[in-house]
Amino acid sequence: MRLSLRFILPLLIALALIAYGVLPLVDRLTLQWFERDLDSRSALVANTMQEPLVDLVRTGSKSKTIAYFNRITQDERLFAIGYCDASHATLFATKSLPRELVCEDLTLFAGGPPRLLSSAKGPLHVSTRAVMADADLLGYLVLVHDMSFIQRRSDETKKYVFYFFVALGAVVSLITVVIAQLSWRGWIQGTRALLRGEGLLRPAERIVVPELQPIARDLRSLIRELGAEYRPRDESQLSWTPDTLRSILHRDLKGHDVLVVSNREPYVHVHAEGRIETRRPASGLVTALEPIMRACSGTWIAHGSGDADREVVDRHDRVGVPPEHPSYSIRRVWLSAAEEAGYYYGFANEGLWPLCHIAHVRPTFRAADWEQYVAVNQKFARAVMDEARSDDPIVLVQDFHLALLPRMIRERLPKATVITFWHIPWPNPEAFAICPWRAQLLDGLLGSSILGFHTQFHCNNFIDTVDRTLEARVDRETFNIFYGGKPTSVKRYPISIEWPTSPDLIRKPVEDCRREIRERLGLPAEHAISIGIDRLDYTKGILERFMAVERLLELEPQWVGHFTFVQVAAPSRSSIGEYQNFEQQVRVLADKINGRFGRGAYLPIALRIEHHEPVDVYEYYRGANLCFVSSLHDGMNLVAKEFVAARDDEQGVLILSQFAGASREMPEALIVNPYDIDQCAAALHVGLTMPVAEQRDRMRVMRALISEFNVYRWAGRMLLDAAAMRRRGRLAFGAGGATAGRNAA
Ligand code: F6P
Repeated sequence: MRLSLRFILPLLIALALIAYGVLPLVDRLTLQWFERDLDSRSALVANTMQEPLVDLVRTGSKSKTIAYFNRITQDERLFAIGYCDASHATLFATKSLPRELVCEDLTLFAGGPPRLLSSAKGPLHVSTRAVMADADLLGYLVLVHDMSFIQRRSDETKKYVFYFFVALGAVVSLITVVIAQLSWRGWIQGTRALLRGEGLLRPAERIVVPELQPIARDLRSLIRELGAEYRPRDESQLSWTPDTLRSILHRDLKGHDVLVVSNREPYVHVHAEGRIETRRPASGLVTALEPIMRACSGTWIAHGSGDADREVVDRHDRVGVPPEHPSYSIRRVWLSAAEEAGYYYGFANEGLWPLCHIAHVRPTFRAADWEQYVAVNQKFARAVMDEARSDDPIVLVQDFHLALLPRMIRERLPKATVITFWHIPWPNPEAFAICPWRAQLLDGLLGSSILGFHTQFHCNNFIDTVDRTLEARVDRETFNIFYGGKPTSVKRYPISIEWPTSPDLIRKPVEDCRREIRERLGLPAEHAISIGIDRLDYTKGILERFMAVERLLELEPQWVGHFTFVQVAAPSRSSIGEYQNFEQQVRVLADKINGRFGRGAYLPIALRIEHHEPVDVYEYYRGANLCFVSSLHDGMNLVAKEFVAARDDEQGVLILSQFAGASREMPEALIVNPYDIDQCAAALHVGLTMPVAEQRDRMRVMRALISEFNVYRWAGRMLLDAAAMRRRGRLAFGAGGATAGRNAA
């Protein structure tokens, strides 16, 4: 394709040049040359005829004069001759003289520029010359030349010029193609050779010239720097949409296998009311990755946790989703009750979850849970092997349930690019040190090519933890860790949500959402509504939130009867004792506050502990005056971003905990310390009374942030980094395998 373009393009350019430039020019020039030629010819003929003509005119013999003229016009180009006397009257002429040439007119042109006439024979060149006898004017000689031969010659010349230029164009095209091919190959080979240190070799012997090695090294690092500079520029120029992601996959990762692996699946099939229902679990991870998978297709490997999951899969344990328009597959991994208890509830949620979140819940580590954690990670590794279509897939490993998986993949598929994203905070080294299997966890994670966290703070904590725990080389300038093989790049990738928001979620007008919420809760018009939307988890600060509501009603009693806080809490990890206690505490506190400030049907807290589908959650986002995110500790918290994205009316107030990663990105929210109950109560009052214009100003800035840094950008940045890493890996691989790879990165 490229080859034929290189050939055809110059040829087409040459043809266009000929048609619109060269041929008209040839025409013009030939005409000018021949006209000049005929002028001087006419002068010559007139001079030659001068004497005989004077004699003939003096004899007064018309027939002799015309016979003389006829003899001369035997010349093929001389078409006609005429003679007028000085009084512009008498005309001796050959028969061929065109009728329109009359003496009165002709004599006016004597000695002047020639006239051009058209006739049936073709164009004619008319030149009039004075005939002198002893310095007296005797008359005028009219010479008419046939110009049709000029046209014939011009056509012939044009034909030759045309063939000449076509041949020239073809030769130039051919040379272009050959040179381009040679120089491209030469450049590639030259660069490869130079990167291997061979470009500076004596070719016959293929021996490295040691003194030139530094140049090769410099070139390598120059290429790396250029690559690094190019990437961010390229990234910021993109506007991030599903199409952008698709084109990155197509352009930079064409034909590569992309797999996502997580514990939580994006769609759960459950039995409900005698049929199978599809549900979307309450999970930040799912919220972020689902649109990515819809955009890019591929396979998502996850634990099949629904009670109807097995009934809908094919014989490879796969099911196409989303149910309405399947565009990617879930490959389900089945876990026994013992595996789920040890790996998910035990090690992941009773051990790692409290270990990584500062919520003052003591982590519990049991050896039996650890064994299940290892075994289940192995099970996921086998599923990755089953699903990989090549030996170098790109595998996106998600979250703290699968910390050992990156190393397991690396051992089985050394050429794979493993991008691991840790969705929760990473603790400081002292906190992490209490985990009995800390070294194994770090080793597992360092099987990743890229390891991502939401904030720079968590990246720093991770690097410090590795530095304290393992014999690894930590490069704090590039944030690369060298440990047992390939390096791991530790980087900040703040997660986000889909933007623009799916129209299905924001179709219902804000006023309708508000009215329906009030109707559902039995609240009067003008009643203020605040919301909290969470999984029922002790890290979310739900108790602190309720305490703040209580304090608000104490400090600002005018809100009693005019304000309701709706808490939507999706049941989560409910077989864990800590979560059962927490649910109990939440219910008790809500009851206490409702008992204290409730009036008849009015309750200040409406607690809804049940699963809500996204469309119902968005109705709350759109209908509320205020959303309160009070996490005690949170990687990012996507509820904060969803609330902002849902408010296309640019109204609504967000109160946001300073301990959620989102507070780094959206300082325009009312930022609070959830442990400071009075401060949170004051923020509730400020939020509920905030002028419309101020709400709009804050909302606009936050919406602009999310529109620019959406989830496609989050995934796209990781994929672009992975693509660049693979390119570098290929160069380094050519430059001497693993050793060069380690040194290069
Ligand atoms: O925050 C970490 C995380 O995996 C989130 O992505 C998600 O919101 C939550 O935990 C889901 O927990 P689970 O999968 O246990 O319900």
